[in-house]
Amino acid sequence: MAGNWKMYKTPQDTARFFIDFRPLIANVNHCEIVIFPPAIDIPEAVASAANSGIAIGGQNIYWAAEGAFTGEISAQMIRAAGAAWVLVGHSERRHHVAHEADGDVLKKTQAALSAGLTPVICVGEKLEEHKAGKANDVLVRQFAGGIAGLTEEQFARIVIAYEPVWAIGTGQVATPDIASNAHKLIRSEAEKRFGDTAAQQLRILYGGSVKPDNIQGLMREPEIDGTLVGGASLDPESFAEIVKAA
Ligand code: 13P
Repeated sequence: MAGNWKMYKTPQDTARFFIDFRPLIANVNHCEIVIFPPAIDIPEAVASAANSGIAIGGQNIYWAAEGAFTGEISAQMIRAAGAAWVLVGHSERRHHVAHEADGDVLKKTQAALSAGLTPVICVGEKLEEHKAGKANDVLVRQFAGGIAGLTEEQFARIVIAYEPVWAIGTGQVATPDIASNAHKLIRSEAEKRFGDTAAQQLRILYGGSVKPDNIQGLMREPEIDGTLVGGASLDPESFAEIVKAA
């Protein structure tokens, strides 16, 4: 169960969050919990989450280890700061802030894996693609360009998040049925490229307007292995409720 804080919270807010959140999930041991704060908050989040079992991840990396890339951060750098995970190819980066293409997603994923991070690769169709019945085509294309180029050994170490863009921050959650069908499609692409066992072992998260009042319906679907939560992960109580429903 993962929380993506996007561009919210200072280091001080981060410390406060963990003081409130840790007691709420103290007895949770049925799932992994990962929080993706802004990069500037990673050291505080790592320190605040020490000995809690909560892992910390970055929201983005550049694919080079170091160099003249003003404003970028490498996988090695966030790893050294204590992060163990990283988001790759979030739709806000693909479509709004950075025009990331599938090829960039592949390079970032490979860089994350070389640095020992677990990448969560985000895929999902835009509203107009959803309306035009093109969701499956988009997922096939994003899988082919951003994921199929991994080796089998690399593929075994990734997590995929299905985040339909029309459901992100809109309050319009995908129905469990829509999410489940998209996950099946992704799993069948994984099976074609990496084989049955690798596809069955792949964890696929759903993201997009996950809230305490819709988490149970989503987690009832066997195809949904967890969720990637935006807005509702900013509040310790609502994220704890979501985590407990996993
Ligand atoms: P919301 O939960 O705010 O819709 O965001 C989802 C998301 O983009 C998580 O990465």
